[in-house]
Parts: sequence; structure tokens; C-alpha cells
Amino acid sequence: LTKDPFVEAIPKVELHVHIEGIITPELKWKFSQRNGETLTHPRTGKVFSTLAELQASHDTLKPPDEGRMDNAEETLSFFESYYGGFEVLKTKQDYFDLAMDYFEHAAKMNVRYCEIFFDPQGHTRTGVKWETMMEGIREAQSKAEKDLNVKSAWIMCFLRDSSPESAMEHYLAALNYRDMIVGVGLDSNEDRRPPKLFEEVFARARADGFRLTAHCDVGKTYPLEHIRQAICEIGGTGAERIDHGLNVVESSELMELIHHKGIGMTICPWSYIRHQPMDEVFERIRALFDKGIKISVASDDPAFMEDTWILENLLVLKKHCNFSNLDMLKLMKDAVDVCWAPEGVKKDIV
Ligand code: ADE
Ligand code: ZN
Repeated sequence: LTKDPFVEAIPKVELHVHIEGIITPELKWKFSQRNGETLTHPRTGKVFSTLAELQASHDTLKPPDEGRMDNAEETLSFFESYYGGFEVLKTKQDYFDLAMDYFEHAAKMNVRYCEIFFDPQGHTRTGVKWETMMEGIREAQSKAEKDLNVKSAWIMCFLRDSSPESAMEHYLAALNYRDMIVGVGLDSNEDRRPPKLFEEVFARARADGFRLTAHCDVGKTYPLEHIRQAICEIGGTGAERIDHGLNVVESSELMELIHHKGIGMTICPWSYIRHQPMDEVFERIRALFDKGIKISVASDDPAFMEDTWILENLLVLKKHCNFSNLDMLKLMKDAVDVCWAPEGVKKDIV
């Protein structure tokens, strides 16, 4: 990707990045060494005794044509590698450093405001206390605002492959930190886990004043019915944004609804390129844009997408959708429109 001073300079809003998705093998190694923990392969139990070994297991996430190891026994799936990252986070300092790592990248790319996903259920199950996690990320958030001019809010995601009861339990515990949390979302493995399963907690969150979003069709194809539930039903009248959901282009009715309701779509091109043909990905994004749907471009899980951040996602999109500089500005303006910052903060961004 060639350098693009115009895109680099645009003040940015990032609305789809998982704090756990920035855990590179290097960060994993750093935290585990610092905490005196041993890292093991989640299935074979083999100890990773060097950073290089850990990196090799992570590299298996590359597409097959880029030389990944095809040893089925050793190859980690995305979720194995992803949730393995949670296990290295033990102390408040770990959470602080992790969040600062994101904020420093964000500041360099001129991100002025971000809404960052976190998965509390993935942390409590490793035995971490709420206050360790929340106080660590809270301190980083304050420091980023003060020293880096990056403002932020958190979106708590429910793991859709865990139970609705667990989601509710975590929702209630998170109320102790509600000043940090702007919305709730739904992520993890979508297979046979439609959004409506979580209606009780979504309805409660909406009644309590949280904003709603949900992941749909993360690069793999899941039923359009999941998108329909997300935009029409959860929380009573549907979420205000959806995360991914590119397969919506297969339904003119759903496209119409998203446009009509002014629902924002967070779109992370590098996440799709891993699974789908390039042409198809960018044709689909272009179709959303041409329809006038508000798109917000973001990075999702940079550590799992060959170190691609919001800037690289914008650049690949510009190139393959043939977007002009004016189109790029329109995308950023849409992101500001669909973000959940207070009006005063929104005015400061643009
Ligand atoms: N959580 C973090 N990254 C995710 C992804 N790519 N798909 C589903 N859940 C996720
Ligand atoms: Zn995501």
C-alpha cells in the first residue's frame, strides 16, 4: 500500500476494534515473562519456550497461500489463538499497557475518538477481577485523553457462544463501571447463535441507556436472519449499529431498512480479505456506500490481520473501491455521525 498523506492526516474515529485483538505474540510474550507464566499450546499442551515458537503458532492464522503451517495438530484456529491471548493478562499493569499500546497506535494515525470493544466474560473466566481489568483500562483511557489527545469509550461485548445467563450476570457486574461504558455488543462464534437469544440483556441495557450493536457475518456466511434480528428486534426496535454484516447486500429489503433507519455499519476490510475473494469484498462495500448507508471503517483485530490498523484498512478500501479523497472524507464524516460520543465531543473531532 502506497503512502497517502491525505488519508493519514484525516482526523479519525474508530468504532470497531477489540482491545484483545491487539495482543500480538510479542505482547503475549512480554506479559507472560513479566508475570512468570508459562505459555502452552491450547490443545497439544506443548510449552512455547521461545518467542519465535509462539510467533510460529500465531502465523498459522495467515491465509494458506501465504505459507502458513498446515500441520492440523499444531495449527491454532482464530478463536484458540484469540482467547489464548486473554490468559496472559493478570495485573492492572497488563491491562494498562495493553490499552496504551492501542492508544499509542491510534494517536499516530490521528484517531481522535474511539469506541473499543472488550469481552469481560473472557477475562473473568481466567480468574481476573473486574477491578483489575477496569481500573487498568480506565487509567490508560485517562492518560490517552490527556497526553495523546485520543478520547474513548468502551463497548462491552457478550460472548454469543456463552449463555444468556452469563451475559446478564456480567452486564449487572459492569454497572459498577457504567461511566466508562457507552454501549453493549455481541461477538465471538456466531454459529447457531442468533442475536435474539440475548434479548433479555439487550432490552435491559437499552432501558438503562446503553447503545446497542451486534456482530453479524464476520467474514463467514451466517443467516441473514441474524442481521434482521439485530436491526429490527434486539432491545425492542433493533440495534443502532451493526458490526460487519456484508452479506446484507444479498437482500435489498435489509439494505433498504438499514438505510432508512440510519443504522451505521462498521466495516473492517482486512478481516474479510482473509476469508473472501477481494473482488467480492470490495464490490459489497462499494454497494453499501453507493446505497448511502453510513459506513465506519475500522481495524477489528490488528494483531491477527498482519498488523493492519485503521489506516491500512482505509488505504486498502480506497484503492480497491476506487474512492476519491472526497469519498474518504465522507466515510469519516459518517463515522462521526454514527459514533456514540456526546455532541460536544463530536464537534471537536471534525
Ligand atoms: N471477537 C474479536 N474478534 C472477533 C471476530 N473476528 N469474530 C468474532 N468475534 C470476535
Ligand atoms: Zn469485531
